[in-house]
Amino acid sequence: MNKRENFGSRLALILAMAGSAIGLGNIWRFPYLVGQNGGAAFIIVYLVSCFVLVLPIFMAESIIGRRTRLSTFGAMKKLAPGTPWKWLGLLTVITPLLILGYYSVVGGWSIDYLWKACTLRFTHDTAGLFPGFISSTWEPLIAFTLFIVATAVIILLGVKNGIEKFTKFCMPTLFVLIVAIVIFGLTLPGSSEGVRYLVKPDFSKIDAGVVAAAMGQAFFSMSLGMGTILTYASYAPENENILTSGVGTAFADLGFALLAGFAVMPAVFSAGIQPGEGPGLVFDTLPYIFSQMPTWIGAIVSIVFFLTILMAALTSSISVLEVGVAYLVEEKGMGRVKSTVIITLLGWILGIFCSLSFGPLANAKLFGLTIFDCMDKLCSDWLLPFGGLMFTLFVGWYMSKADVRDEFTNNGTVNVGIFNVVYFLMRYVAPLGILVVFITNLVL
Ligand code: PHE
Repeated sequence: MNKRENFGSRLALILAMAGSAIGLGNIWRFPYLVGQNGGAAFIIVYLVSCFVLVLPIFMAESIIGRRTRLSTFGAMKKLAPGTPWKWLGLLTVITPLLILGYYSVVGGWSIDYLWKACTLRFTHDTAGLFPGFISSTWEPLIAFTLFIVATAVIILLGVKNGIEKFTKFCMPTLFVLIVAIVIFGLTLPGSSEGVRYLVKPDFSKIDAGVVAAAMGQAFFSMSLGMGTILTYASYAPENENILTSGVGTAFADLGFALLAGFAVMPAVFSAGIQPGEGPGLVFDTLPYIFSQMPTWIGAIVSIVFFLTILMAALTSSISVLEVGVAYLVEEKGMGRVKSTVIITLLGWILGIFCSLSFGPLANAKLFGLTIFDCMDKLCSDWLLPFGGLMFTLFVGWYMSKADVRDEFTNNGTVNVGIFNVVYFLMRYVAPLGILVVFITNLVL
């Protein structure tokens, strides 16, 4: 995407934001976190985080981006010249790099599973398939490399024609398929146990770790806290309504996550898989569902499904890479090709360790976590909420209320009534909420 280019329309902007938000975070990460953190109770904390903490930060990032028409570093320098706020821009380099590394590993899994679907591997017994695959050395590494290279190529080719058009086609397909899988999953024997798990909260399961994980997931899933939404908003057309794009993206994102939960959990219980097994949950469960379908239906559904997951993953990974590339181009004056190659290479090196941490490096642990889990937790539970905290403090406390109001209401033409509520959330509720989660998570 060119720095000076704007999205052609509001729809294009919402699709790009939704394309960034909806990805592996919804389909892969959300279901396994639900399984690790006690089911329905986690979902409730997640919903609260989304609307009370994360949505105001979505608005905060949008306001900064659209007002300055710059990505994070430049935006901070323009709005707060000569202050340390510009260092917030560093987050837009470090966090995307880390996320690109491990996200691409999972993106690689979806490439490999697409291949397996095409070679009809899911038409018969799938038990043990996933553990065997990720603990091997080369297969996941090759798939990961393909994924990260594909991300880089799309960024180099330009986002507008390729990805925007593809997203338009992809998201509805994914939606239809997930609904079909939910319906099929509910017919499997023993699936009602999974539904109960998703709707009957056991509040005794909620502790500081669960709340931190729910909040982190809300940031990760909405692509917040590292400047992605800020950068996309800087390409927004003038008449964009910040409230509408935020709420629209939030509902689309949430809807996909919940559907993925209902696609996976009933089948988990039906197949006797452990809900808390971790990052492999979806890749263990979905092939099981496909193998239970009539052969040719399972074959077709699995191919289309992994293809659309792959596309959803790519529309997110490019938004991760774009943030780092935009920084090097705008702030360091590097060419686009050079910037893309540098960030991709660094992400690739990090990702190699993440990929191997399921096999040869499984025993290399930091704070008791594998390299992959450590990077994932560091980014989602700490770096993204920290970035979000800073953005909301900036808009709530550093910028003048009049400027924020102008931007939020398009100079007093829209959302005027709701402005004070959102401003209160941005100024008090979101920062305090994040701080409380941070502190309790550190102390407990
Ligand atoms: N939101 C994306 C997903 O759910 C991941 C992402 C995180 C993208 C952070 C950009 C920034 O898959």
